[in-house]
Amino acid sequence: MLGKGVECCELSPFATPEPGPIRHSVWIGNIQELARESSKSMLVRIPSLLSSDQVAHMRGVLERSDWVDGKLTAGPQAKRAKNNLQVPEGAPAARALAETISDALAKNERFTSSALAQKMSLPLFNRYDVGMSYNNHIDNALRSMPGSPVRIRTDLSATVFLTDPKDYDGGELIIDDTFGAHAVKLAAGDLILYSATSRHRVAPVTRGSRWSSFFWIQSMIRDDSARTMLFELDCTIQALRAKVGDGEELLALTGLYHNLFRRWADA
Ligand code: NI
Repeated sequence: MLGKGVECCELSPFATPEPGPIRHSVWIGNIQELARESSKSMLVRIPSLLSSDQVAHMRGVLERSDWVDGKLTAGPQAKRAKNNLQVPEGAPAARALAETISDALAKNERFTSSALAQKMSLPLFNRYDVGMSYNNHIDNALRSMPGSPVRIRTDLSATVFLTDPKDYDGGELIIDDTFGAHAVKLAAGDLILYSATSRHRVAPVTRGSRWSSFFWIQSMIRDDSARTMLFELDCTIQALRAKVGDGEELLALTGLYHNLFRRWADA
């Protein structure tokens, strides 16, 4: 939170031309758009969470991994919707890759500021080959940690894209919120962070194979709109500081951020 950079407000439009009712998000291009969109649920892109070398390394490891039917880890309702492959949760190679993702998240100011993470699940890995998809569902509210009695409340869902969008067709992550459906298909190494309360799906892959990592976060700020407002306030403070420098007003705004945080935080 309140990191040094101003990059937390720079979001490029999501790619993915798609016919029909899907709304192509141009969300968060600048501060004015942030203000207009302040009531929407959290949907944050973290560009280049992983470098291209890290993505290439992960893909190499995953190519040599075992893959099992994703239905094995799905509840009875999700079983009917889910058609993909996953690396088994306890696989040692996947654990090492998960650590790389956790380390990258710990260093990423935009993730820190937006997620305000308290706990997160172990990153897992999945793939959708031609014909595979995951129909509409809402993620379970609680997630067990393998080998531990600890459970996390899933406030935020996260997907790290591990395939270049040129290498597959379909496979968009489609997230519904009160403003409609957002189709998300990002560069390899980018992460999308979205409210776990959202209904979402993965469109069928029609060419190639879509690989990704996914995990959940319990935030210090449980309420999605409160967390989104804090993120926007943080972004605005950073942008204002870059424009006009520090001063009494910025000090007051920073104090307001921390006092709201204190009021709302579970931590
Ligand atoms: Ni899901």
